[in-house]
Amino acid sequence: MNDESLQNTSEQAITPEKLNYLKELTQHYYNIDSLAKYMDVYRISKNDPEDFWNTIAERNFEWRKKWDSVLKWNPKKAEVTWFEGAQLNITENAIDRHLETRGNKTAIIWEPNDPEEKTLYISYNELSKRVNKMANVLKKNGIKKGDRVCIYLPMIPELAIATLACARIGAVHSVVFAGFSALALSSRINDSECKMLITADGSYRGSKSINLKGIVDEAMGDTPSIECVLVVKQTSSDIEMVKDRDIWLHDELNQVDDKCEAEVMDAEDTLFILYTSGSTGTPKGMVHTTAGYMVYTAFSFKNVFQYQENDVYWCTADIGWITGHSYIVYGPLLNGATTLMFEGVPSYPDYGRFWEIVEKHKVNQFYTAPTAIRALAKQDVEFVDKHDISSLKVLGTVGEPINEEAWNWYYENIGKRKCPIVDTWWQTETGGIMISPIPFVTPTKPTFATLPLPGIQPSLMDDKGEELKGNSVSGKLCIKHPWPSMARTVYGNHQRYIDTYFSAFENLYFTGDGALRDEVGYYRITGRVDDVIIVSGHNLGTAPIEDAINEHPAVAESAIVGFAHKVKGNALAGFVILKNEGESRDKQNLSKEINQLISSKIGPIAKLDRIHFVSGLPKTRSGKIMRRIMRKISSNEGDQIGDISTLLDPDIVEEIKEKVQPFL
Ligand code: WT7
Repeated sequence: MNDESLQNTSEQAITPEKLNYLKELTQHYYNIDSLAKYMDVYRISKNDPEDFWNTIAERNFEWRKKWDSVLKWNPKKAEVTWFEGAQLNITENAIDRHLETRGNKTAIIWEPNDPEEKTLYISYNELSKRVNKMANVLKKNGIKKGDRVCIYLPMIPELAIATLACARIGAVHSVVFAGFSALALSSRINDSECKMLITADGSYRGSKSINLKGIVDEAMGDTPSIECVLVVKQTSSDIEMVKDRDIWLHDELNQVDDKCEAEVMDAEDTLFILYTSGSTGTPKGMVHTTAGYMVYTAFSFKNVFQYQENDVYWCTADIGWITGHSYIVYGPLLNGATTLMFEGVPSYPDYGRFWEIVEKHKVNQFYTAPTAIRALAKQDVEFVDKHDISSLKVLGTVGEPINEEAWNWYYENIGKRKCPIVDTWWQTETGGIMISPIPFVTPTKPTFATLPLPGIQPSLMDDKGEELKGNSVSGKLCIKHPWPSMARTVYGNHQRYIDTYFSAFENLYFTGDGALRDEVGYYRITGRVDDVIIVSGHNLGTAPIEDAINEHPAVAESAIVGFAHKVKGNALAGFVILKNEGESRDKQNLSKEINQLISSKIGPIAKLDRIHFVSGLPKTRSGKIMRRIMRKISSNEGDQIGDISTLLDPDIVEEIKEKVQPFL
């Protein structure tokens, strides 16, 4: 299994007999059950990607009409289509086609925030009814194919149901994570001109109750495209319903039928928009389309989690992120799986909650983030050992590089050394998992995402734009050939899509990550090479946070960097230059105000752990802020900042070192 053999596969002759055997392998996309088969399937996918995806699409889904072409790809314009000419509805594949054989099977287990409250088991039959009803409510309120619907809901069943209801009628869902602030919500609504907002009166998170509707009302002050706000009753808190705008979902549901004909969609019709931070500017609305996303999320879910018919699968992410879209809702349901949705947090009522849920529902596949693993590893291992978690078969991790210590803790204490860990690397933009071990097939290695899934061709590039061939190299991670679930564009701004992903290297998709390929061809993701910082698995751009800080009347200028943090992976440090009148202010109060500002502009996840008030920032003569210097100093690597001779004012480095020192 070395990269040479992976790289050279397409040149090796494949005899007709071999071709038939390989085709059989992909007939059902899941029977990769040995490393030799993985190598074979990978080889066929690389040798003829179109034939590979054609076979998978043809044999594993229901289509209203088949495609005219598998792939059209124009790298100059970054225009791609998959399965053009095909017609389908993704909900017919995720729900309807299971009803005959799995109607009474549980589709969604919903575990409430409060363990004393009732767990819900939603069968495929019931899910079908609820999605159809919700779809009829959307239609009744004027939503048509192509309209954008913003969903701002906590982790309650209505969140999954609302996304599927949109897909049922061809409306485009834009889910906004319910931890985002009013401003973050309104700017996303306005960017894609959503016609409707679906929200709840409130939400629970651990011991806290959040006034979600209050945030919505604030956001609605500035969202002219919204015609209707559909409200789910969740906390029964006292809220204001605005006349001619707000309606209760339960009232509406009473007035509609439980059958809604699925809208026939073209393969390339937009399924959803999901916003992600970039290194500069406003968040990008990544556009995902119907057929390719369906094929790839279903294929990758089955392979990466090795889901078997009666398994219970649990991904702890929020549906507000791509992980939840692809691997709580679409991937599992397309496979007829039982998927668990958890409303709460890992620490409530105590740090044993995850393991209590695993025991209660006999969870077989468990998928979470390194930041959660690190937070749990810090607790007494009693919290784990109290529970029988022997049902677990496969453990997954996603969102940021996992450090060796956390990997080992997960492997030993949760997996009891018998569950493979799938370290899955992917992005909002890729739609699905790209590099990951296949459990029980690919030997795992701590901190390595290991090998690409079939159909995915990673390449590492050096700064001169040359591909790094062979093994034991590290560079910028790119993907060579289009894959079905790649985002098609940035909503309303195709140029930005080209600039961000297809300009750094010719004909390649640039991921923004650095990676190394070890001596056997395994990939390890080393982290972002741009100004995106990943805090607790959340993607944050430096620019919007700095913009928020700079709005404080006492602030002249600021720069933020990420530094290594034991639990969050990275935490944020802000370097702030005050205006003259700010100098006399109490620094503790100022710090508080700055964090409040960030919370209200972006959300609490973007708050700074450290704020340093400095007299200047390290800048080059051309004015570019050298964040690298502040990053090194904040990570206690001040001795490795390298050459600072290009700085306008090298003395500032000493001042920064002094200010940061007490925090190290
Ligand atoms: C960025 C994408 C994909 C769902 C969650 C995040 C980082 C993601 C890994 C991993 C190392 C990882 C990358 C990537 N990342 N998974 N297994 N190992 N880094 O989606 O918010 O779009 O963030 O998360 O830096 O580019 P996202």
